[in-house]
Order: sequence, then C-alpha cells, then structure tokens
Amino acid sequence: MRRGEKAVYIIMGIMVVAVMVKNALTQSSSVEDRTIPYYTDAPEPLQRAALDIIRREDCRQCHSLWTVKNIMNSVPAPILDGMGSLHDEQWFYGYLSSNNPQSILRSRLKKEFQMPSYAALSESDRRTLAQYLASLKVKSWYLAETRKAEQQKLTGIEEPSQ
Ligand code: HEC
Repeated sequence: MRRGEKAVYIIMGIMVVAVMVKNALTQSSSVEDRTIPYYTDAPEPLQRAALDIIRREDCRQCHSLWTVKNIMNSVPAPILDGMGSLHDEQWFYGYLSSNNPQSILRSRLKKEFQMPSYAALSESDRRTLAQYLASLKVKSWYLAETRKAEQQKLTGIEEPSQ
C-alpha cells in the first residue's frame, strides 16, 4: 500500500465512524423522545397529592394514567394522560364539581360506566385534581402525528409535508 492510499483509507475510516457516532447519538435521543409522548409540569408535592386522591377514589378503575389501569375493568373511558392539552384547570374544576358531568360531556355509555360526579369531594381535593389534570400534557410531535394519521384515515390523503 502506498502512503497516499493509506491516508485515504484512514480518512474514509474516520468518516464512517463519525457518521455511525452521529447516527447513534441522534437516534438514541429521538427514540427516547418518542417512547412516552406524555409528561406533567406539575411540581412534586402536587403530583403526590393528586395521585393520592386518584388512588383513593380509584379513578383507574375506568381510566388509564401513566399507562396504569385496572385490567379487570374494560370501561371505554378516555385515557387521562395528556388531558391538560384538551382542557384547562377551570374546566376540570367545573367538570369534577358538577352534579351531572354528562351535562358537560355527553355520554353514550350505560350509567354504571359513565363518569361519576365528584361534587361531594372536598373543594381542596377538587382543586388539587383540577390543577394536576391541567398539568398533564402531550408532546406536540405526538399530537401532530395523531392528527395526521386521523386525517389520512378520514380522507385517504396524505398531508403534504411542510
Ligand atoms: C365508573 C368509571 C369512571 C370513574 C371511576 C372515573 N371516571 Fe372519569 N370518565 C369516565 C367516562 C366514561 C368518561 C367519558 C364521559 C362519560 O362517558 O361520562 C370520563 C371522563 C373524564 C374526564 C374528561 C375526559 C375528556 O375526554 O374530556 C376526566 C378529566 C375524568 N373523567 C377524570 C376522572 C377522575 C380524576 C376520576 C377520579 C377522581 C375519574 N375520572 C373517575 C369514567 C370514569
């Protein structure tokens, strides 16, 4: 092998390794970013207080939250993850405080599966829950992809990529 050739091989080798490292780095971060599209920006004490109430009231009997749900129950209730991207704190407070939640969100389910009224909970519990629910967000790439998939399913047309 001549000196010139050797140099070329070394340079090519370095480039291949550089590309592999770059792929590994960008891939691992995007994979990580795409595993769980849900997050909360609530401070720790609020999270703990709200999760205590959620456990006590057994909301997971019907809803899933952080992918935990009572598997013995198959109520087709909406998942709570990402809820804060749908409604704000005021809305949650009103919904939980209503004597008839179905007057706010209509339901086609049998009465026993419908969202119960939590008007009897203490005001502070309802505030804690409302604050926490409002903090449950969904990452925007997930919303964008979900919307795109839905659009595609409805129209059969793929959205032009921007
Ligand atoms: C008996 C089953 C059941 C239980 C228990 C229950 N939910 Fe629900 N929830 C539902 C159903 C079903 C809906 C959809 C509306 C309907 O059908 O009444 C709903 C709707 C909601 C919504 C609005 C969802 C949306 O898409 O806008 C929120 C927020 C919510 N529930 C929070 C809670 C919290 C917090 C608890 C516990 C304190 C709880 N739920 C307990 C069944 C339940």
